[in-house]
Amino acid sequence: MRLSVIGCGYVGLVTGACLAEAGHEVVCTDIDKQRIAQLQEGGVPIYERYLDKLLASARKAGRISYTADAGEAIRSGDVIFICVGTPPKPNGEADLSAIDHVARQIATEARSAKLIIEKSTVPARTGLELRRALTAYSRNSGLCFRVVSNPEFLREGTAIEDFFHPDRIVVGVEDEASANDMRQIYRPILERAFHCPVHNSTCPPGNAAALLVTTINSAELIKHASNSFLALKISYANVIADLCEKIGADVEEVTRAMGLDPRIGGQFLRAGLGFGGFCFPKDVQAFIHLAGTVGVDFDILKAAERVNKQRIERFFEKVRQALWVVKGKRVAVLGLAFKGNTDDIRFSPALEVVKELFREGAQVHASDPEAMPKVKALLPEVHYHQDPYEALRDAEAAMVCTEWDVFRDLDWERAGKLMARRLVIDGRNLYSPARMRQLGFEYYSFGRE
Ligand code: UDX
Repeated sequence: MRLSVIGCGYVGLVTGACLAEAGHEVVCTDIDKQRIAQLQEGGVPIYERYLDKLLASARKAGRISYTADAGEAIRSGDVIFICVGTPPKPNGEADLSAIDHVARQIATEARSAKLIIEKSTVPARTGLELRRALTAYSRNSGLCFRVVSNPEFLREGTAIEDFFHPDRIVVGVEDEASANDMRQIYRPILERAFHCPVHNSTCPPGNAAALLVTTINSAELIKHASNSFLALKISYANVIADLCEKIGADVEEVTRAMGLDPRIGGQFLRAGLGFGGFCFPKDVQAFIHLAGTVGVDFDILKAAERVNKQRIERFFEKVRQALWVVKGKRVAVLGLAFKGNTDDIRFSPALEVVKELFREGAQVHASDPEAMPKVKALLPEVHYHQDPYEALRDAEAAMVCTEWDVFRDLDWERAGKLMARRLVIDGRNLYSPARMRQLGFEYYSFGRE
C-alpha cells in the first residue's frame, strides 16, 4: 500500500521505517524543512536503536522517501498517518493545533478519498473532531475521509522492537472497511512477514499480537488509560521506596515479590527519580484534564503526578545529607536522557537534577552516551565528557540519573581511584548497596539501606 506519514518525530519515523520494512511504500513529510533535508541526505535526526539501519535499507529498496511539500505527500498516499506533536498547554490540556493544521492541509491538498490514521496521542473524542474538521474543510471538494485512531505503544529505546512485536494493535474505527484496511496495513506484522532488524529474523516465539477493533473514543482512551496506569505504578513503587527507607525494608525485595503476582506484574515498579519523557508527564496531565472537563474526579492520578514531582526533592534530601554543602563542589552526573537507550531529554528528571545543582552552586561534569549534544544547547555551563570516567575524575560525588547499561557496568573500583571522594547518590538503584560499601563507597539510593 502507499502510505504517507505526516510528522517525522520519533513516532513518525519509527512508523514509517517499520511499515516500509513490512513492504509498504512510504512518503514522509514534516514542516521542519531542515529535518527533511537531513533525511533526504541519509541522516537520522533522532537516536533510536535500529532506526538508522531500517531507514537505510528502506531507502535502498526505494520504499521510503521524504518531501517538504506536504501536499505532495498527502496526494501520494491512500492512507495518511498523522504523527504530529500534541504538546501540553500550561493548563495540562493537549495542544491539538498541529492536528487541526494537518486536517486543513489534507482537506485542501487531497485529490481523492483517504484513510486518515490518527497516531499522535490525543485525548478521547479528538478523532471525531478530526473527522468533523476534515468534512468542514473539504466541503467544496466533496471528498470523503475515513478516520481511524491507531494509538502507539512504543517505548523510546525499544520502539522498533515494540513496533514489530506488539502486545496489541488497537484500531478505533467507524466502519468495517476501515478495520479491514488496518488489517491489511498490519498484516505483515501480524503474520510476522518482515525481516526483523532486532532479532535478525530469529525472533523468539511468542503469541501473535492481537488486533483489537474498537470505537474511536475507546482507542483514544486505551492509550491514555494505559500510560497513566503505568505512571501510577511507578509512583506507587516510589512511595513504597520512601516507606521502606523509614521502616528499614528493601524496596527491591518488596517490588520483586509483588511483581511475581501475575495480577500485579513486575514491570514499572522500579523506584528512583521517577518518570520523565514526552509521554508519561503529558499524558497524565492530559488525562487529568480530560476527566476534569467531564466532571470525573481523577484524584488518584493527581497524587501520582504529585509523587513524581517530589522525586527530585527526595533525591536532594539525600544529596544534602551526603554532601552537606553543595556550593562549590565538583560533582559528576551520569545520565542526562530521561531514560536509557535514547537521546531524548524532554521532561528528563536528570536535567532537573542538573538545574538544581547549578542553583545550589555546584560544578557539574556530566556524561551521557547519546544525549549530550541536545543538552549542550540548553545548558552550556555543564562540562561534558563522552567518557564517564573523565566526568568522575576529581568529583566529590557521583549522581546517577539515567539507567544506561554503560553506567550499570561501570568499574567502580577504577572510578573510586579517580574520584576525590568515594560517594555515589544513585537515582536509579543501579548497584548493590553491599557491593558499593565493600568498595569503600558511601552509597545512597532509593528505598534501600
Ligand atoms: C511510554 C510508554 O511505555 C509507551 O507505551 C508509550 O507509547 C510512550 O510512553 P517511553 O516514554 O518511551 O514510553 O518510556 P518508558 O519506558 O515507558 O519510561 C517512562 C519513564 O518512566 C522513564 O523516565 C523511566 O525512567 C521511568 N520509569 C520506568 C521508572 O521510573 N520506573 C519504572 O519502573 C519504569
